[in-house]
Amino acid sequence: MPGHYFAAAPVAALYRRFAEEARSSPTWQGVSSWIAETDPVLELLDTLPGMKRQPNLFLAALRYFEAPLQPGPDLSGWIAEHWTPVRELILQRETQTNEAGRCAVLAPVLAALPGPLALIEVGSSAGLCLLPDRYGYRWSDRAGRTVAELPGEPVLECVVSGSGPAYARPEVAWRLGVDRNPLDPADPADARWLESLVWPDQDERQRRLHAALAIAAAQPPPRIRGEALEMLPTAVAQVPAGLTPVVLHSFTAMYLPREDRDRLCDLIESLPVHWVSLEGERAIGRIADRVPADGWSGPPGTLLALDGHPLARAGWHGERVHWLAP
Ligand SMILES: C[S@@+](CC[C@H](N)C(=O)[O-])C[C@H]1O[C@@H](n2cnc3c(N)ncnc32)[C@H](O)[C@@H]1O
Repeated sequence: MPGHYFAAAPVAALYRRFAEEARSSPTWQGVSSWIAETDPVLELLDTLPGMKRQPNLFLAALRYFEAPLQPGPDLSGWIAEHWTPVRELILQRETQTNEAGRCAVLAPVLAALPGPLALIEVGSSAGLCLLPDRYGYRWSDRAGRTVAELPGEPVLECVVSGSGPAYARPEVAWRLGVDRNPLDPADPADARWLESLVWPDQDERQRRLHAALAIAAAQPPPRIRGEALEMLPTAVAQVPAGLTPVVLHSFTAMYLPREDRDRLCDLIESLPVHWVSLEGERAIGRIADRVPADGWSGPPGTLLALDGHPLARAGWHGERVHWLAP
């Protein structure tokens, strides 16, 4: 993917930008800023091919191997000493962060569709976003007052603003994940990689991941291996009669090159399905172009959309949702 930012930008710039984005993790902010200024580490990272230069991958490898995470000579010594296994892990693994918390943003939109649903997720990782009917929820307003809650474990917490659909649990009668590298929630090595992808200083996310993995491992959602553009029509063709087919993708299109994103959107729009997407604000041009000029001054985040129409701005991990005016 030579044209992608991760493949094309200088490594120091990638880490400087990551430090900006990682405000919620002071540890990654510090380590990333330090890497951006540390030539011996940059030289090693510069040997990684294409998309493997994505900071999240190297940082997750540091977590996986329990590197010392204090910027400085101990860390640069550790990296030089462990570079071979770190590099192997990076070449073997992908950024497949699977965040059950996003279901707090997805659930109300799915619940508003006529059920029961057949949910197909493109880029399903370990399948945690395929289980919006199996978690507990607490939606609250900015003052911390509960707006709605549903029992279950883990409880996915989400701060809401604006006026959106009812906060409810969707009825999912059938589900299928499509991923070019499906992870197994019951496999300890896959679970360890997913845990490594969670940033330091985010203990609540780590707890949520453990609980969601346990739910998925007990009854793993079916997943098929394959490229989204090739497999999606096959997946949709498997939907049993009488169900409402919904294609969902979250934090997946943004990893595709622009032309493939457009092809994926064209493909979904050509299928007899509803389309729910949760992606970076500018990831899908045709959705971003439809966002009303609302003077938004909050942090950049993601756009939640139904059938290509933006419904809400959301936090990266489902921690907040702001419904757009209709
Ligand atoms: C960052 S994860 C997001 C997982 C999940 N949707 C979530 O929001 O928690 C992106 C997933 O998309 C998958 N993926 C990326 N490009 C793909 C493609 N072209 N076809 C199929 N899967 C793809 C990756 O393997 C990975 O599991």
